[in-house]
Amino acid sequence: MRLRLHLLESLPKLMDFSLHFGNLETKRTDCLIVGAYEKQKLTESAKQIDQASEGGLVKLLKREQFKGKPGDVLLFHQLPGCRADRVLVVGLGDPKALSAQNYSQALASAGKALAATPSQKALCALLEAEVAGCDLRWKSRQIARIFADGCYRFTQLKSEPEDRPALAQVDLHCPDKTQSAAIEQGVREGQAIAAGMKLTKDLANLPGNLCTPSYLAEQAQKLADRYPKIKTTVLEAAEMETLGMGALLAVARGSRQPPKLIVLEYTGARPENPPIALVGKGITFDAGGISLKPAENMDEMKYDMCGGASVLGTLMAAAELNLPLKLVGVIPACENLPDGNAIKPGDIIKTMAGHWVEILNTDAEGRLILADALTYTQRFNPKAVIDVATLTGACLVALGRHATGLFANDEALAQALLKAGETSLDRAWRLPLWKEYQEQLQSNFADLANVGGREGGAITAAAFLARFTEKFTWAHLDIAGTAWTSGRDKKGATGRPVPLLVQFLLDQA
Ligand code: BES
Ligand code: MN
Ligand code: ZN
Repeated sequence: MRLRLHLLESLPKLMDFSLHFGNLETKRTDCLIVGAYEKQKLTESAKQIDQASEGGLVKLLKREQFKGKPGDVLLFHQLPGCRADRVLVVGLGDPKALSAQNYSQALASAGKALAATPSQKALCALLEAEVAGCDLRWKSRQIARIFADGCYRFTQLKSEPEDRPALAQVDLHCPDKTQSAAIEQGVREGQAIAAGMKLTKDLANLPGNLCTPSYLAEQAQKLADRYPKIKTTVLEAAEMETLGMGALLAVARGSRQPPKLIVLEYTGARPENPPIALVGKGITFDAGGISLKPAENMDEMKYDMCGGASVLGTLMAAAELNLPLKLVGVIPACENLPDGNAIKPGDIIKTMAGHWVEILNTDAEGRLILADALTYTQRFNPKAVIDVATLTGACLVALGRHATGLFANDEALAQALLKAGETSLDRAWRLPLWKEYQEQLQSNFADLANVGGREGGAITAAAFLARFTEKFTWAHLDIAGTAWTSGRDKKGATGRPVPLLVQFLLDQA
């Protein structure tokens, strides 16, 4: 049980950022980060360093044939005239056309290159670059988020974690003293988003044997312990029974782990305000049930709770930022396994909303547990409900790994989420929810079937959820393609869509 106790201590801390004014070359730091454009055109900070090194920087950039494309990086050690142990030069492309996306890509490469050195402290001078359409607050938010996220490592389950020290502190060089407030605000937001992403990634990367529904519930309780404005309630199977949650209980029957309905309330505004509700799929392992999945890559189905984890991460960030909002988080959590007591294809169950559902494929379990969770959410009288789920392989096929699938029964909510995705560069793409798709869910024996065939699989899954959300403003985010990356060496949770959701909440606040 020691391992368990250790893992329970893992609510993330914020990375330490502070503002830096004045000279760059005289500042002692493990790594100084400066930007350079194409054709060796330097930023102001890089110019300072070049002068201090008597033209040494430009000479080295020429020798190394530094192209300066966004994302190019070059690391120098002990540059003459500069007290930093290392100087990391980051390409920023064309100075007249630096887009938000290229800037963020440059930050990501810088963060990665920095994390590959043993630097514990860094001094970052990338705030001064002009980015089209972006202010200092946005730039500060991106720097803090991307640097903190860039040094994420999951080492809890290695008996001998690398002893390379991790980055602990970043000084942000400020071009303009009068703008400190905007920069500090952006940094706070970026730190909180990164901490929320870390919580999401840690929970997601934990394997199914450790991150069970009960474990998720304990983590939700930890959030309530840390943040006075968060209250956590966990509903057990008996209460689900009383509420008539036949769909959630049907999925949970295939597993020995007790199901949990995790409910979090964040009260940052007057309690009588109608809340925004976030509902996250929390299948801690999806083997498919009796409609068992093939063995290949089945381990990745430990990530089937990423929606739930991102709800916890988003609420943590909201609490960290003290957002003046009322929020509710609802996470239906269970496993989808093929036990002797499991539901079978052809079984018909009754949902909390009263609809009878014919289960034609036990692997379409996400929509079942979400149906009951969405119905339950109605009691909070929400002004908007957003569910987040690794719902369909079809969404991954449709949009690849770049965009989250977005569905909504409300135009304004859809637009607000799309905009938050653009701002945070954690993007979503809208797919239709036309009533024609409902035909695919018809059942001969019940009110509806839980699958709609191969065609438009992401849409028919959303169409199923739509039957349980008619009474409120609702959006659905299918994160099957964006919540984690695959492959032996690249496998890992991404923390998405925490940046999108926190940006959406910032825009609402
Ligand atoms: N959790 C899966 C969806 C999934 C699969 C996400 C692969 C990411 C990668 C979900 O529960 C599921 O199994 N969906 C089925 C639905 C089908 C049976 C209609 C799917 O996508 O194959
Ligand atoms: Mn499934
Ligand atoms: Zn699933």
